[in-house]
Amino acid sequence: MDFRGTDTPRVNWTGDCLVVGLFEDAIELTGDLAELDQTLSGTLQELINEFEFKGKAESTAVTRVGANSPIRKIAVVGLGKSDALTLETLRRATAAAVRLVKREKCKTVGISFPAWNNDPAQTVQAIAEGLELTLHNDHRFKSDDDKTFEIQQVELLGFPGQEDAINRARQISLGVILARELVSAPANIVTPITMAETAEAIAREYALELEILEQEDCEKLGMGAFLGVAKASELPPKFIHLTYRPQGTPRRKLAIVGKGLTFDSGGLNIKPTGSGIEMMKTDMGGAAATLGAAKAVGSLKPDVEVHFISAVTENMISGRAMHPGDILTASNGKTIEINNTDAEGRLTLADALVFAEKLGVDAIVDLATLTGACVIALGDDIAGLWSTSQAIATEFLEAAKQSGEKFWQMPMEEKYFDGLKSVVADMKNTGPRPGGAITASLFLKQFVKETPWVHLDIAGPVWADKDNGYNNAGGTGFAVRTLVNWVLT
Ligand code: BES
Ligand code: MN
Ligand code: ZN
Repeated sequence: MDFRGTDTPRVNWTGDCLVVGLFEDAIELTGDLAELDQTLSGTLQELINEFEFKGKAESTAVTRVGANSPIRKIAVVGLGKSDALTLETLRRATAAAVRLVKREKCKTVGISFPAWNNDPAQTVQAIAEGLELTLHNDHRFKSDDDKTFEIQQVELLGFPGQEDAINRARQISLGVILARELVSAPANIVTPITMAETAEAIAREYALELEILEQEDCEKLGMGAFLGVAKASELPPKFIHLTYRPQGTPRRKLAIVGKGLTFDSGGLNIKPTGSGIEMMKTDMGGAAATLGAAKAVGSLKPDVEVHFISAVTENMISGRAMHPGDILTASNGKTIEINNTDAEGRLTLADALVFAEKLGVDAIVDLATLTGACVIALGDDIAGLWSTSQAIATEFLEAAKQSGEKFWQMPMEEKYFDGLKSVVADMKNTGPRPGGAITASLFLKQFVKETPWVHLDIAGPVWADKDNGYNNAGGTGFAVRTLVNWVLT
């Protein structure tokens, strides 16, 4: 599919389907739209009338145009109120347009949307992201891969040039798509070994540095928490450390740390039927987003040094499994009483955070499908955010505003650490059920001494049960776009 911006006026465009974005408060056809309507013998006005089209965000209507017309079909997509226009409105409107033209089997498409905030670069980037992400359909595991129809060309009218914005959207989308496919693939396909191979492929493609710590290397570093989780698996654990270094002195140094459980059975505190155990292939969503961000950063080459880290393993059961009640020692010397083997993500992250801090970075962001409690608190679309530095938290939330991904800042309520007090060790790995996402954050905090740090719990948004805007059902690649924006800020 070819996507480009053009300066073709919409009255002159020819092709299969012209999609015009309309605001709720500007539904009348004036100026060149009145002219277009005339060229189409009144079809556009008729379409609006007959569908009772009001311009509500993401609503659509389409109709066939008379035989001698320069276009085959005309469509309208609602953009909501003009003063409420955001980049996310444009992404979602693009998704609605793409779904419509696919349904209508239109091969050449013209899109006419207004600019956001008089900013053509951001506008084009958002529309291109909406397009790329909606068009990505994951049919890898279907035997009847239906490729009968594909859109050939999309022209964005009124935005000539903008090759940089289009390329940025493309590279970021490729990162999101990598993360989606890693999350959607089951645990018999995506394993610690294949995660390490994916990191190798990224390192090769974009000339990033790659260090894979094997089990013995992790033992030498005293990563008892990570290795405690890995013990029962038949597969070797892999500690992945990818580094992007810019040419010259980096403006700053960052670390992104992702939870990488390629499967979470719960361990001996096994997840019962009905707990969603069959979805626990998604428990490497943090690591997937980390690799997706590495891919995008590797190709966009900002002036920032970024470390991409994940301690990858499975949480399984066997005669070698860690027992409930075991005491593990993490690489910073802290001891942990395992009162629940299903709170494994925080154990793997503990050693990964200690490792990240030793790199002397200016800030660390970790992201993890960490707790069901966070899904209860914020639902499927919103991730929780905790931070020890309001400056970095605000910076990150600002990057999220631009990407349209939703994060909600949650309290780092120190008092709740009481719930993690252990009789025998420095701490337990789980506290009481109330505030479970908060105690998980407080647990992680024990492994970051002084580096400004943000923790993201992405257990809800890592997966979509059904198509939603530009996210097709399946792994969402959530957080990749915000992470990349944040690195670029
Ligand atoms: N991977 C899960 C969290 C999870 C739950 C992710 C639902 C996505 C959807 C995590 O390892 C886990 O099992 N957490 C436990 C913690 C509890 C034992 C304190 C949970 O949330 O139940
Ligand atoms: Mn678990
Ligand atoms: Zn888990």
